[in-house]
Amino acid sequence: MLVLGIETSCDDTGVALYDRDTGLRAHALYSQIGHAAFGGVVPELASRDHIQKLLPLIDALMREAQLPMTALDAIAYTAGPGLAGALLVGAALARALAFSLGIPALGIHHLEGHLLAPQLEAHGPEFPFLALLVSGGHTLIADVSGLGRYTILGESRDDAAGEAFDKSAKVLGLGYPGGPAVSRAAQQGGPSALRLPRPLTDRPGLEFSFSGLKTALVLAAKEAPLDEERRAMLAFALQEAIVDTLAIKCRRALIATGHKRLVIAGGVGANQRLRERLHKDSEELGVALHYPRPAFCTDNGAMIAYAGCLRLAKGQTDGGAFGIRPRWPLSELTPP
Ligand code: KG4
Ligand code: ZN
Repeated sequence: MLVLGIETSCDDTGVALYDRDTGLRAHALYSQIGHAAFGGVVPELASRDHIQKLLPLIDALMREAQLPMTALDAIAYTAGPGLAGALLVGAALARALAFSLGIPALGIHHLEGHLLAPQLEAHGPEFPFLALLVSGGHTLIADVSGLGRYTILGESRDDAAGEAFDKSAKVLGLGYPGGPAVSRAAQQGGPSALRLPRPLTDRPGLEFSFSGLKTALVLAAKEAPLDEERRAMLAFALQEAIVDTLAIKCRRALIATGHKRLVIAGGVGANQRLRERLHKDSEELGVALHYPRPAFCTDNGAMIAYAGCLRLAKGQTDGGAFGIRPRWPLSELTPP
């Protein structure tokens, strides 16, 4: 059972081939770079870039795998959540290709892709597990009991962790995307007298709130001229605050649920400091920690092909209806 996955929810064009018997056959990604000049993703530019890149990327993917399009059993695409125009490009192409090949197309929830991505790796986590999903648009802790069975135990009331990295990077003049840039700058920094808040950790519960962190950083940044050394110090303090906040809530959720597997998923999951911290905490709690390679933490086609393959194998076919869901709560997802 061979599934082509197409991811176009934001500014990355991702494609991949997943085979139920042999695993991941090939994957390719085009990361749009034109947005950096604007300090964030420009939806219209993203859509146009997907249109230009998607077909050549799929051609190259099939050539790499040395397989004809007729070998495909289904096409999975990201149906939401995400930017409407960007989603439409992937959905339209997936539907048209599937129709012309006489095979089913499946609309996949982007966050389901992220949650399942660690299973793409050798010795990936079996169900059930606890997941920390941290991306540019979402921050949540979910109880994952099976395919399509996700209970959100806590999420952000406002900004996502990735958003806090991105917005703060802008304040510090570190460029876009902010996560990797802050992380690089933080390597030149170290502990200082500045301690940024760990929002909502002083009260019970698993909710997050990251919008105040940026304000705290703006105020701290105004205290003295921003030279390289100060930038590194602020980047370090910000990364520590975000990582510490995420880790405190994960520990709380692990103790409350008794889960013995913890998964880190989403773009911020590529953060080395976060991985180190969660490794330490998991070891203390006797919990196995799983995360995908950095390229499968950030947006990619492999996670969509994989989720599509799992759903197809369970008998899901979406019919011919064409639809995207730019806003699609994870809690509305159902098992196949
Ligand atoms: O999952 P993703 O690629 O896209 C969304 O679904 O949002 O996540 C993108 C986010 C961005 O906010 C980016 O700054 C952040 O992930 N990110 C990181 C790192 N790599 C990407 N944040 C911290 N450290 C990183 N190494
Ligand atoms: Zn994502």
